[in-house]
Amino acid sequence: MGWVYVNEISNYDGKEVTLKGWLYNKRSSGKIWFLIFRDGTGFIQCVVSRSDTDEKTFQLYDELGQESSIIVHGIVHQDRRAPGGYEVIVKKIDVVQAVHDYPIALKEHGIDFLMDHRHLWLRSPKQVAILRIRHTVIKACRDFFDSHGFILADTPIFTPTACEGTTTLFETDYFGRKAYLTQSGQLYSEATAAALGKVYCFGPTFRAEKSKTRRHLTEFWMVEPEVAYYDLDDNMKLAEEFVSYVVQTVLKERKKELEVLERDISLLEKVEPPFPRITYSEAVEILKENGIDFEWGNDFGGADETVISNQFEKPVMIHRFPAKVKAFYMKRDPENEELALGVDVLAPEGYGEIIGGGQREENYEILRKRIKEFGLSEEVFKWYLDLRKFGSVPHSGFGMGVERAVAWICGLKHIRETIPFPRTIYRLEP
Ligand code: 4AD
Ligand code: MG
Repeated sequence: MGWVYVNEISNYDGKEVTLKGWLYNKRSSGKIWFLIFRDGTGFIQCVVSRSDTDEKTFQLYDELGQESSIIVHGIVHQDRRAPGGYEVIVKKIDVVQAVHDYPIALKEHGIDFLMDHRHLWLRSPKQVAILRIRHTVIKACRDFFDSHGFILADTPIFTPTACEGTTTLFETDYFGRKAYLTQSGQLYSEATAAALGKVYCFGPTFRAEKSKTRRHLTEFWMVEPEVAYYDLDDNMKLAEEFVSYVVQTVLKERKKELEVLERDISLLEKVEPPFPRITYSEAVEILKENGIDFEWGNDFGGADETVISNQFEKPVMIHRFPAKVKAFYMKRDPENEELALGVDVLAPEGYGEIIGGGQREENYEILRKRIKEFGLSEEVFKWYLDLRKFGSVPHSGFGMGVERAVAWICGLKHIRETIPFPRTIYRLEP
């Protein structure tokens, strides 16, 4: 047999195979030594004994430190006692690179040290499990929209304006004029939705978050559907079906990884529509019942969201926020002008907001007035106002932050482990 991967090893019981990868760990018991081998698809125990291997290979024990790159030739052997149910009886090892003094030893390290060595830390079993789940979350997002008639329409990363407030803009020089890194593709998706009906964009988004929290990155990935003729209720229905699909797909396809993370999945299993829906005012009541001094009209902070989401076993949808804490484009509630038809979805177990969205203002004159009220330039929004002049329709959408969703599904305390190379206020390296 030629080169095979660890995750397909069960097809090769009794056969001779070649594995290409790295030494994760090793231990010796005199006449025999073991190496835990990894190749990115999994980990497997390899047994090196004098009777099955050549002398040169047997003597490699002292030479091969953690993360040495090696090619292992050996016989696959089913063994119920072996982790994973299989082991490899080694015939020969080719050394690609012998490594000594790998910085991340198999013991506990402090978080700053690990973050400084993120490029290497990524190889550890827990980080590998998280990145596999992230992959499945992203694929599930795409599969959901692709199979529900949505068209992927990409939105620009260089933009001339703010979408989500001017305080978190990253400014850059664009051939002598100011440009900003996008905070959200939404405004452009509103244009593509008028062209294609149901669309989504999926890309990196940027916010100059100046505080250090466990929920904020400065660069994160967002998936944003936008649908012509959807109102707030349609939007909420779409959000709960979407989130449920993503969670159930991960439970089905990433069982092993969730086990590596020791994730208690009992609540994730309950993530099915319908989700509880409460108004902002009802959420404020919940805070008060829990002894929190909260004034109606303010925005919820991370700690408030934790208290609210802890009251529910499923994600909870909070709608109808005070208009002044939401963005300029939100449509007002016809029954109460003070309220915006926005919705936030908070994940349970204290995770807080994973989705923000709502119904957009479709009236030309009202939207123009809002742009002025928010101190934004009408000139740069001329194209956006055009959408309200030529075939304007009610429309709605939302955005889900991939990293927030992954943190919740994986049960991670901090968002920094959900993306290969996190960017935060104090971290641009590695
Ligand atoms: O609530 P936000 O600001 O909504 C929007 O950007 C809308 N324009 C989306 C739309 O309607 N199309 O952000 C949406 C989501 C949040 O719920 C959160 O999951 C994530 O984006 N998010 C962040 N994730 C990580 N780090 C940050 N700094 C984030 N800011 C927002
Ligand atoms: Mg929000």
